[in-house]
Amino acid sequence: MTLYNRAFAASIKNTFSIEPIKDFVEHYLSTNLVKKPIIIDPFVGSSRYGTLTNDVDKNVDAMYNLDAEVFLDMLLEDDVKADVVLYDPPSNVKQCGFYTGVKDRIRPLVKPDGLVLSFGGSSMGVGKKFGDYEEILLVTHGGVFNDTICVAQRKDSIYV
Ligand SMILES: C[S@@+](CC[C@H](N)C(=O)[O-])C[C@H]1O[C@@H](n2cnc3c(N)ncnc32)[C@H](O)[C@@H]1O
Repeated sequence: MTLYNRAFAASIKNTFSIEPIKDFVEHYLSTNLVKKPIIIDPFVGSSRYGTLTNDVDKNVDAMYNLDAEVFLDMLLEDDVKADVVLYDPPSNVKQCGFYTGVKDRIRPLVKPDGLVLSFGGSSMGVGKKFGDYEEILLVTHGGVFNDTICVAQRKDSIYV
């Protein structure tokens, strides 16, 4: 069963600094996780939750400054399996197939029963066959800003 929640908060660039979104991330990172979880963040920005972090912007303090697809391909090649993937891509990419390409790479990187936390304009997460939608949090920013839809999705253990 999916839990639906709603919150109001001003929009700022660093998504995970927005109070209700910060609470959402920290809730899922503090529950049901192993002692030293593997947390992949391919679009890390200013966030500090990831243990494998990347951002294409060379000014961002990340473990890698690669395009997200190249970073995720590297993890796939190393057979990394994550407890959590944080999926907070930029909203303005016009490149055809960008979001699909990233999500296709994220799904196999997640352990069975692992989590993907997605943020953006869609409640799809990384695909409806991937697993249960545990929570959808709608954060309304008001004014001219689009809402941020936060999705917690747990990988079905039968999903390959
Ligand atoms: C929505 S922000 C992430 C914000 C982050 N969750 C936080 O709370 O600070 C998206 C990030 O993706 C980075 N980015 C944009 N295009 C990218 C790409 N092709 N590959 C990897 N990172 C990219 C941007 O530099 C930006 O820091």
